[in-house]
Amino acid sequence: MVAPKSNTYTSIVAKPFAPNLGAEIYGVDLSQPVPDDQFAEIRDAFHTYQVLFFKEQKEIPPAQHIEFGKRFGPLHAHPAAPTMEGYPEIFEIHATKNSKVANGEFWHSDVSCDETPPLGTMLQIHIAPPCGGDTMFSDMYAAYDDLSEPIKSMLDGLSALHSSEHIYKGRYSDRGQKDADIDCPEAIHPIVRTHPETGRKSLFVNRTFTTKIIGLSDKESEAILNMLFEHAEQINYQIRFRWSLNDMAFWDNRCCMHRAIWDYWPAERKGRRVTVKGDRPV
Ligand code: SIN
Repeated sequence: MVAPKSNTYTSIVAKPFAPNLGAEIYGVDLSQPVPDDQFAEIRDAFHTYQVLFFKEQKEIPPAQHIEFGKRFGPLHAHPAAPTMEGYPEIFEIHATKNSKVANGEFWHSDVSCDETPPLGTMLQIHIAPPCGGDTMFSDMYAAYDDLSEPIKSMLDGLSALHSSEHIYKGRYSDRGQKDADIDCPEAIHPIVRTHPETGRKSLFVNRTFTTKIIGLSDKESEAILNMLFEHAEQINYQIRFRWSLNDMAFWDNRCCMHRAIWDYWPAERKGRRVTVKGDRPV
């Protein structure tokens, strides 16, 4: 049983979503520049709750969405995804009745195949299906904390390869993306990483990108990775967010995974995503 987190914010209201993960944020208008005192509390809440859901929002103008993202650091450019016309910093999430795939359908931490994977991702949904289209998040601090001491000791010294060619090649062809010449990044990261702001350890492997544990045989690597994927995807680490129009979610890729549910076909779902660059995991 995890004790609910408490907060003493004065310029925002943070309502915990579940005891260990997530908070709904009220009292902020992201369509306008955010005052410094609110920004400081939002940043604190982001580190406390791992994923924030900004409620009661208007549609955020693209330039303002980009500006808000940049306050957390330089922005990250996605290696393969379609961007919004005139705004290369914005990745457009879009699924229609003609889509072959929807974005983020398997558990992942965004672009973990990069040498410096994104710190966080901000997604606002502008076209929501009549029902469905929820996004799930999983707490990777808790997933690490719950491992037994012998497994923690073994993982502490291990790194894993995160690859992307199997994900990105052809992925966005139905949206007109030409990807014959794209660079599909791959990188080796520690399996357990330490969050640069909170100092907490989290499990940093995911079913989408993590393909091999370095130094183990294929059989050993597959068995241990599958054990870790199944462990981290347990329901008690998860929350499931139901979007209202113009909600904006901001998740910390360093300590949570997410998965989008495409259960609304043939309805449409559309959103804009700004991604903040992170550090090399250590
Ligand atoms: C993603 O960015 O992985 C997609 C999330 C979503 O569409 O809810």
